[in-house]
Formats: sequence, structure tokens, C-alpha cells
Amino acid sequence: MSWDFMTATRIVYGLDSLKRLGQETARLGRHALLMTGQGSARRSGALDQATAILDAAGVTVTLYEGVEPDPTFATVNGAAELARREDCDMVVGLGGGSAMDAAKAVAGIARWPYPVDDYYDTDRMLPGKGLPFVAVPTTAGTGAEVTKNAVLSDPVRALKQSLRGDYLLADVALVDPALTVSMSPEVTAATGGDALTQAIESYVSKNASPLTDALATQAIQLIGRHLKRAYQDGADIKARTAVSLGSLLAGMALTNARLGAVHGLAHPLGVRFGLSHGLVCALLLPYEMAYNLRGEYPLAEVTRRKYAHVAELMGLDVTGCPDIMAAERATDYIFKLNRELDLDRRLSEFGVTEADLPTLAAESLPSGSLKANPRPLTQEELEELLHRAL
Ligand SMILES: [Fe+2]
Repeated sequence: MSWDFMTATRIVYGLDSLKRLGQETARLGRHALLMTGQGSARRSGALDQATAILDAAGVTVTLYEGVEPDPTFATVNGAAELARREDCDMVVGLGGGSAMDAAKAVAGIARWPYPVDDYYDTDRMLPGKGLPFVAVPTTAGTGAEVTKNAVLSDPVRALKQSLRGDYLLADVALVDPALTVSMSPEVTAATGGDALTQAIESYVSKNASPLTDALATQAIQLIGRHLKRAYQDGADIKARTAVSLGSLLAGMALTNARLGAVHGLAHPLGVRFGLSHGLVCALLLPYEMAYNLRGEYPLAEVTRRKYAHVAELMGLDVTGCPDIMAAERATDYIFKLNRELDLDRRLSEFGVTEADLPTLAAESLPSGSLKANPRPLTQEELEELLHRAL
């Protein structure tokens, strides 16, 4: 077995660590393109705080507000053009996964004269390190602050795919759990559900290593035991801190171990039905676990043992249970958690019909996430998994 591991150059974590933003960015440049989403960072006060801190550190800010959920090629190309025009020498992403991924892609491409489309349509690779990139998450979910891919969409071609590369890793991931306190219960549940899915998928991934296992297991424990509390009482700083750390650790695990079938299916479902990424991940997770823990395949025993460990990590007493039973308890627990977080939805509620399943399954087949799933899935098996969630 061999593996390698990469993460952000520097990770700054802790309550009120946003204060470090000035010092961290001033090391990297003098003029930041600050990218954020469609208003939540402004409403919560995080945007004003960030700009004041940057200003005090002598960093000039060009603001790009309004990154949409599932950021498009057009957004990234427009913001990269702005960065070139204004002579920005670094990019700061402040927000959820979409704002951070858009900022990450802009940092990646802005030094080169090509639109982001080129990196998809041709075999062009990112030629080198882009602009310095600082990621500041305001949700606890995607782990995008430490991943080396940016999920972008092209509505014209109904495409949602990652721009990927080692050069996309952030120079600084600045994770302040205090920024997540303003999330609504709905956003807390969906983003936390994504983080838990990422932790569990990277734990059982075909590419898991001892290092990603260490991170993923910690993440499962932190998120599995605190997400419900963060949902019920958003002001509970202990719960917020735990879920925020769990999300960070899951991001570090997934960018090295990759994910699984749920993430393979989440992209076409997101593109075709506009489903929120976190919701669709949480919704599908227990069906994927039920599928993976059955059947005979090369990693079956390891996967069952790992799912049994997931039960323990989430605080269930499975002493003396055979792995398969403990693994089933873990799956049942995820179903229950989804009910408690109001994530136990059906795909049919969002307009998905039986007739859509073949296309959704076919579109997920080429995904790298699917290839990392420990139990292989055929077109028919993917359709069956979706059918159970319909
Ligand atoms: Fe995800």
C-alpha cells in the first residue's frame, strides 16, 4: 500500500481566529479580491468584519459579491477578469462551499489568460501555482477550505464538475467556528449532513489511508455527536465548534481519499433538479451504507468493520455485536438522525421520477467519487439505490 497526502499550506483554526485574517493575508499580498455569496456574510456581519480587518492590515480590497449556489463558469471567468483588471495579487473566499470554490477557481486561473472552460474542454492543465488563496468558511460542511477541487457548473451543458489540481490548495484555511453561529437550522442540517457524508465516505473509500482514517474517524465522532445539538440550538458554541472542526477534518480526508457513490449521484441530481448538495448527500447516505454493507466484494469485510466502528464513533453501544449488526445499527442511526434534522426527504418530493433514474445513474458512472466507492456499482445497481430513495 502506498499513499500520499496534501492539504492547505497553513490551517488556522479556533474561535475568533477571523482576527488573524489581516496578518495572514498581509504576508501573501497587498490587494485581495474578496469573493462572497449572495448576502449571508453581509447580513451576519462577517463581511464587514473581514473587510475592516483587511483594511487595518493595509490590504486593499476589491469586492465580488453575489457568487451563486453552484457557481458557474461565467461567474469564475468574470471574477478572474476583475482580478486581472484591478491587479489583485491574491484571492480571499468568504462563505459557504460555493463562494470558496468560486474563489479557489479564480485564484487558480487568474494568472493565466485562459477561461475556465478551457480546463474542461481541452486537455489544458493549470500551468502552475495561481494567485495566493485564503479560504474562510462561514458554514460547517463542505470542507472546501482544504480541498483541491472547485465544483463548478455550466447550466448550458447541464454540467457540474470539478476543476481539480494540487495548485488549488489554499495557502491559508482560516476556520473560525464563531462564523457558523449565524447559520439557520436548515443550513446547519444540510451542510452538516454533507460533512458527515464526506467523513463516512472518505473513511470507507477505496483510497483511504491511515492518515485519512485518523481524520475521518475524528470527523465522524465530532459531527455524529454534535450536529443535532447545533441544529437545535445554533448558539451552542460547543456544538458549533465540534461540527466546524469535524467539517475541516472531513475536508482534509476527502481531498486525499476521495468520496463514494453518494457524491457521484449528488452532482447530476443537483444539476437536473436543483437539489441542495448537502440535502441530497444526507438523504442518500443511509441507502449507500445499506448497499455497501451487503454483498461479497474485495473490500466487504473492511467496509463492514469500518461501518461497525462508525456506530461506536457516533456513540452507540455495540459491544459484542458482530460487525454486520453494528454496521446496520450505524445505518439505522443515520436514518434516525436524518429524521431529527428534517433531512429524511424523498427524491420524488423534488420532482424526480422513476423515468429519470437511468439518466441520473448514467451521468454519475464516470465520476471519480463513484470509482472510490468500496463496493462497485453498475448502472442497474445505481438505479436501484436511487429507487430506494425515491
Ligand atoms: Fe459534499
